Amino acid sequence: MKNTLIAPSVLAADFANLQRDIEMINASEADWFHIDIMDGVFVPNISFGMPVLDAINKHAKKTIDVHLMIVDPDRYIATFKKLGTDVLTVHYEACTHLHRTLQAIKAEGMKAGVALNPHTNIDVLEDVIQDIDLVCIMSVNPGFGGQSFIENTYSKVEKLKALITKKNASTLIEIDGGVTNKNAKQLVDAGADVLVAGSYVFGAQDPIATIADLKMITK
Ligand code: DX5
Ligand code: ZN
Repeated sequence: MKNTLIAPSVLAADFANLQRDIEMINASEADWFHIDIMDGVFVPNISFGMPVLDAINKHAKKTIDVHLMIVDPDRYIATFKKLGTDVLTVHYEACTHLHRTLQAIKAEGMKAGVALNPHTNIDVLEDVIQDIDLVCIMSVNPGFGGQSFIENTYSKVEKLKALITKKNASTLIEIDGGVTNKNAKQLVDAGADVLVAGSYVFGAQDPIATIADLKMITK
């Protein structure tokens, strides 16, 4: 039996009732809070920044998983640590010196993650996989919640799982975008460890039951 981690994406929460939604996640079977930071440059959208993460952190009682969709993320590594980040994920496509960035994240005491856009091949991680705590495979183009899942993701997960096994690494595989009860089980069977779900959870009539269902079907 597998303990797949479920990470609701706060991007899909009701920002006018953020404390209520954070407490709802605290009370649920969810494992992590997934926090999407977008700068309007790396992706064509701006989400929210440090003051909002600070407010979230005051109420959140679970692991804070920050997904940076920003250029030059090195500038903010220490700041995100101060704001309570446990796992800090940068985009492969935004880092010229990825190895250095990963070491800087770990030097701050955080887990280091790397996200790959849908067009980016798993092979680019071959020489750095042992330094990565989490790979986030984007199953939509980053920038917006509520998009449809890209089917090619399953084969990317299998390929990444094979690379992790081959290199004897302990990297977690996270899937981000368009996750629902329709694809969750197949993703876990392919090798996924963490499933991010935004609109599927917060758009549900009963988000707590929806999270419980995701936990159950991915065991
Ligand atoms: C997309 C974000 C995702 C998004 C997922 O750029 O990285 O985390 O919030 O939302 P859904 O689950 O609605 O696709
Ligand atoms: Zn995300």
